[in-house]
Amino acid sequence: MNTQNKTFFIETFGCQMNFHDSEKVVGTLISQGYRQVQSVDEADLIFYNTCSIRDKAEQKVFHRLADYKKLQEQGKKFAVIGCVAQQEGENIFERAPHVSLVAGSASYRNLPEMLVQIESGSRATGLDDRQTDETFETEFTARTNPHRGYITIIEGCDKFCAYCVVPYTRGKERSRTSDSVLAEARKMADAGYTDIQLLGQNVNSYRDAAGKKSFAELLTAVGEIPGIRRVRFTTSHPRDFTRDIVDAIDTVPTLCDHVHLPVQSGSSRVLASMYREYTREQYLERIGWMKSTRSRTISLTTDIIVGFPGETEADFEHTLSLIDTVHYDGIFSFKYSARPNTPALKYIDSISEEEKSRRLAILNERQREIQRANYAKHIGHIMEVMVEGYNEARGQVIGRTSQNKTLNFTCGTSPLPKPGSYVNVLVTKSYPNSLVGELASNQ
Ligand code: SAH
Ligand code: SF4
Ligand code: F3S
Repeated sequence: MNTQNKTFFIETFGCQMNFHDSEKVVGTLISQGYRQVQSVDEADLIFYNTCSIRDKAEQKVFHRLADYKKLQEQGKKFAVIGCVAQQEGENIFERAPHVSLVAGSASYRNLPEMLVQIESGSRATGLDDRQTDETFETEFTARTNPHRGYITIIEGCDKFCAYCVVPYTRGKERSRTSDSVLAEARKMADAGYTDIQLLGQNVNSYRDAAGKKSFAELLTAVGEIPGIRRVRFTTSHPRDFTRDIVDAIDTVPTLCDHVHLPVQSGSSRVLASMYREYTREQYLERIGWMKSTRSRTISLTTDIIVGFPGETEADFEHTLSLIDTVHYDGIFSFKYSARPNTPALKYIDSISEEEKSRRLAILNERQREIQRANYAKHIGHIMEVMVEGYNEARGQVIGRTSQNKTLNFTCGTSPLPKPGSYVNVLVTKSYPNSLVGELASNQ
């Protein structure tokens, strides 16, 4: 196939795993002779990597496709991949007849063949691979950031929380071997990456396909690779969150001081009807481990759903008291959104949109005050940041701390540090979501 002059544009929605999948898809397309462009206008082939976690996310895709329908007349081709593709399957061809390719993430290994099919004028689908044991590993990943790189270590999800589409869109849980993860991490370190993030829908449910390493052991091994300065992992599931993960963070200096541990609700009754498989008390026990480390202050963040079917005012109060107890540095909060195929569809979703919005606003307001106090505690302290860039308008260098907080700073008369470098910064001011400082003089 001669694709030498073919161009593609890709737009990605959804979670970090989807963004990283796009890096692999881009690499695969380039290896097949396509060239990436930055606008729909310049592209022959337009890819949407989609998310269906909430109804709004899903609607975005269909709006985009409707907007671009007329472009088909110019000979452009459209591909819908990711979670909406897997969920809606061939229905997408009916709703958007100008689409030629529909594929879920479990089928990306077959992209080169699917590309040949669409270039020859036929439609292609990749929808039947959700029971696969294989993960999508490719040597062609087109990483967009030269310093921070992502590695998917486990794909899919077997948890089947009552509200969630992921087990249906991403298929069954399957882990890579620790050898292949470590080989990729070493290769990245050799290429100059210092910051590695391990990814999975439930990253800590990782089971080495070769049976050699536990998740905590894999984390440690990645953290010990020469050249690696920061290791993060997301997202952890509380049920599989074991104490050895906390011990590893406490022992290995490169493992970052941050854990994202989605709780969803502070009420054990709601957690049971969500099928989360832990109670409020079990969750708080895990938080207790992280608060009692010897050498670290681990920053905690979470996800919370408000207005899950049957959530009473008292249940919601339990969520508020939980955030007061944990003192998170950040929460991602969502109104419950009923999703296709999920068990919660059979529950009566009796809480009005208005009430969901009210609860969300109360939660976010309470959290803002918690963060205001948490962030203010850093004033007067020196923190190491990785430099991410420079904000011309503000005259500030953009930095990120090990705790994953944004710390913007000025440098006085010193030269501006380069993106990807690590410097110490004295914190002088705080906001509920970021810190401000000055380059520390003792560099
Ligand atoms: N695997 C992770 C998170 C996956 S999705 C975990 O188990 O924690 C990211 C977040 O989206 C979830 O943590 C949840 O808070 C939110 N979410 C998922 N399904 C949702 C739904 N139907 N309505 C509202 N929020 C939802
Ligand atoms: Fe969804 Fe639950 Fe799986 Fe997370 S653990 S991806 S919330 S089903
Ligand atoms: Fe969305 Fe799929 Fe990720 S539904 S959040 S893109 S796993």
